[in-house]
Amino acid sequence: MNNINIEARLKELLPERRLKHSLNVAKCAVKLSEIYNCDKEKAYLAGMTHDCAKYFNDEQVEHYVKKFCIKLDDLEINNLALSHSVIGSYIIEDIFNIKDEEIIDAVKYHTTGRENMTLLEKIIYMADLIEEGRNFPKVDELRNLSYSGKLNEALLLSFNNTIKFVIDNNQVIHPRTVSARNYILRERM
Ligand SMILES: [Fe+2]
Ligand SMILES: [Fe+2]
Repeated sequence: MNNINIEARLKELLPERRLKHSLNVAKCAVKLSEIYNCDKEKAYLAGMTHDCAKYFNDEQVEHYVKKFCIKLDDLEINNLALSHSVIGSYIIEDIFNIKDEEIIDAVKYHTTGRENMTLLEKIIYMADLIEEGRNFPKVDELRNLSYSGKLNEALLLSFNNTIKFVIDNNQVIHPRTVSARNYILRERM
């Protein structure tokens, strides 16, 4: 599927605002790929499609979970904010004919991160947060780190922020985010 067709298909799946976000993430991921020597085409495709399952209704979720025998964990079940990344990773082949495992994993782990992330996974995780439309406290700090060769520092700061936020709001932390943080910390030593 070419890039124009991907955008047209995404238009059917996402509201205007989320489509714009996806275009921004793709653009940012390509920019980061230039800095960190990652595959720009893969970064573009992963960025464009990462949120493709974000607006599925219950029937669509059920349909795809059954169709692809998707195993969601206790935290992901009935929580599209977490599960859209996992569900999306199973359907990008079906919808966009994307078969590349690296792209599939970058989509799959863009919400939580995980231990031992690939460069493409790191780039999509960060691009999702720092794309030009994002505006939250510390976003500029994350941008400065990401665009100055300090991708791991940016990831660590972001995992720390996420973990602090979920604690302050009495929310559950996904264990993959804790593993991702610990791994980055160990990698820095
Ligand atoms: Fe997402
Ligand atoms: Fe996103």
